[in-house]
Amino acid sequence: MYTKAISVAFFLPFVAQSVLATAGCTRSYTVKDGDICDSISAAKNVSTYQLAVVNHGQINPDCADLTPGQTLCLGRTGEDCNTTYVVVPNDTCDDIQSRTGVNSTILHLNNPQINEECTNIYIGEVLCVGQTVQVPPAPGNGQPAVVAPSTAIPANPSATAVHASVTHPAVAHATAPSSLINEEDLPFCDEL
Ligand SMILES: *[C@@H]1O[C@H](CO)[C@@H](O)[C@H](O)[C@H]1NC(C)=O
Ligand SMILES: *[C@@H]1O[C@H](CO)[C@@H](O)[C@H](O)[C@H]1NC(C)=O
Ligand SMILES: *[C@@H]1O[C@H](CO)[C@@H](O)[C@H](O)[C@H]1NC(C)=O
Ligand SMILES: *[C@@H]1O[C@H](CO)[C@@H](O)[C@H](O)[C@H]1NC(C)=O
Repeated sequence: MYTKAISVAFFLPFVAQSVLATAGCTRSYTVKDGDICDSISAAKNVSTYQLAVVNHGQINPDCADLTPGQTLCLGRTGEDCNTTYVVVPNDTCDDIQSRTGVNSTILHLNNPQINEECTNIYIGEVLCVGQTVQVPPAPGNGQPAVVAPSTAIPANPSATAVHASVTHPAVAHATAPSSLINEEDLPFCDEL
């Protein structure tokens, strides 16, 4: 584990450099082994949508390709919603709206991945519940900004839409590239 941490840190400056080049990042986070986007989102008060959009091009829309040591931007100046709510079993948008005082217009504008009927929210999804529109716009390149992970469980058991847009289920946990975890490839790390 110690060796692994060092080997990941060894490559970190190169990853961090590319992200820090992105202007206006108000807060950032370094991915740890076992992280998934929604666990980072819940811990750091950044919505599922915002994390995906801010890191578009760095991570896939379903967040299947997180890499330990990777630096994520959590929010950009003027587009950083830090008021969040984590979806629990049986939640409906009506529940969330009455619990947070956010109306449906603002809830959908801040979380554009939610469908009109709100049948696709899933357990553990992190929603922006700011009272005004606070999140960045979608990338607008024809790709979905955010796709539910293949492991997503619908909040409402009768809803079946969660996986409707998932085309390529994939492992959602962060995994180090084998070149980073194969200690024999980096014999000198033990001596650092
Ligand atoms: C996230 O928000 C909660 C509730 O407002 C707050 O208690 C907590 O300190 C926040 N965490 C971070 C990392 O900002
Ligand atoms: C949340 O964002 C607001 C507005 O940008 C800022 O004033 C506040 O300090 C932030 N809160 C936290 C916990 O980061
Ligand atoms: C969700 O709703 C179902 C059906 O109404 C109920 O059986 C179940 O106990 C509820 N689960 C939770 C965690 O509230
Ligand atoms: C929600 O609030 C916004 C801003 O106050 C308002 O423009 C919008 O019409 C409201 N939507 C609903 C459904 O009440």
